[in-house]
Amino acid sequence: MKSTAVLLAAGQGTRMKSDQPKVLFSIAGWPLIRYALVSAKDASSEKPVVVVGHGAEAVQDYIGDSARCVLQEPQLGTGHAVQQSELILRGKTDYVLVSYADMPLLRGKTLKRLVDTQVRNSGPITILTVQADDPRGFGRILRKTDGTVRAIVEETQATTEERLIRELNVGAYCFAAAWLWDALKRIPLSPKGEYFLTDTIGLAVADNLPVEAIMVDNPAEVIGINTRVHLAEAETLMRRHINQTCMSAGVTMIDPQSTYIEAGVTIGRDTVIWPNTYLQGYTQIGRRCNIGPNTIVRDTKIGSNCKVLASVLEGAILEDNVEMGPFAHLRKGAHLARGVHMGNFGEVKDSYLGPGVKMGHFSYIGDARVGAETNIGAGTITCNYDGEKKHSTEIGEKVFIGSDTMLVAPLKVGKRARTGAGSVVTKDVPPDTLVVGMPARAVRKSEKHDGG
Ligand code: UD1
Ligand code: CA
Repeated sequence: MKSTAVLLAAGQGTRMKSDQPKVLFSIAGWPLIRYALVSAKDASSEKPVVVVGHGAEAVQDYIGDSARCVLQEPQLGTGHAVQQSELILRGKTDYVLVSYADMPLLRGKTLKRLVDTQVRNSGPITILTVQADDPRGFGRILRKTDGTVRAIVEETQATTEERLIRELNVGAYCFAAAWLWDALKRIPLSPKGEYFLTDTIGLAVADNLPVEAIMVDNPAEVIGINTRVHLAEAETLMRRHINQTCMSAGVTMIDPQSTYIEAGVTIGRDTVIWPNTYLQGYTQIGRRCNIGPNTIVRDTKIGSNCKVLASVLEGAILEDNVEMGPFAHLRKGAHLARGVHMGNFGEVKDSYLGPGVKMGHFSYIGDARVGAETNIGAGTITCNYDGEKKHSTEIGEKVFIGSDTMLVAPLKVGKRARTGAGSVVTKDVPPDTLVVGMPARAVRKSEKHDGG
């Protein structure tokens, strides 16, 4: 038994008032189409098909090979959109699950229930409906006196009486493929000049075939995005859902309302997230951490037992027991090993700070490797850029970099070396050596630490 999802994403999304295709708008960090694809994959057995049209190239680029795309050009309605998938699906699938790509809160579980119901249905269609006080312009479900579905009528074509109906068409359907392709060709042209997929319901009923309907219990699940107001509503609902999922998994949130976690972020148990914190992209956080307040973490992996206060981290790695902030900035390629302490006003980019490194106050470390237990004094700067190229700095273990040292790269500083306050280091420093001045000169072998 094969089931294939067809996601409709070709429409213009006129009411978004945008140059960007609607399905590429994001909520909680993911474009709408990504939610649709995840749910579709949970509910069907074959690779999904996405019908693209408006902004096709951009949508196709985003989708990559996670789905097959078919082009609908021109866009003549939802029935016409599904028809575009016939060429690749006819004879290849038993069931066609159609859903609109602008419903990010619709769960895979619900779509699965739709498919399962259709598999048991002797008729050709199962539809998803919802009972809601606010009809939001949705199509209305018309039922016969015996309670079975008779038709779906679009709001624009509904009579005053039909408009009072509060059972609405969600926009998710499962069809028996054998029946669907020919039915699509029988859809009448609507007064709007479109072929409505919803008219297949009336066709099945006219053929004396039963149409099944299942209801979603939570109207919030099926809000479709037509305007930026809807986008903001969906964002709020998705955020609440993500936060609740994290809390159920053992994460403490001091104030969920001001905690912004994107879809796909993972957080270990007993971690505490403080207010006004943004966790974005591919971020992963371990156990027993304290993150925030006032922190942004993007595409960063944080180990366990870390503390990050009022800082910005992007594309970085923190191993266990790292403490940083307030007001620290990690940029792409920053890697802080176990037990690193990074205090205020520091910036690290494309650099590895070894275990136990201390960098307490306003320093910049870029394109560098710093050995274990080295101390970076206040105001230290790796002068890594000569105006044309970036150069690297290598600092050994247990080095003591004095306050306000300029390390002019390319440069190597040997193990246990020391630099005096205010040194401008332009030449490699051998191990166990103290350098001072501008440019810094060796004055003597430095005292050894820990007898090392
Ligand atoms: C549609 C349904 C309506 C339902 C509502 C739920 C029809 C005729 N009506 O109305 O019953 O209550 O959704 O949100 O289906 N699309 C294409 N190609 C087209 C036209 C649309 O791919 O030619 C796509 C759009 O990109 C969108 C989806 O189909 O993802 C729905 O289209 P939209 O115009 O938003 O339909 P509604 O008028 O909202
Ligand atoms: Ca819509």
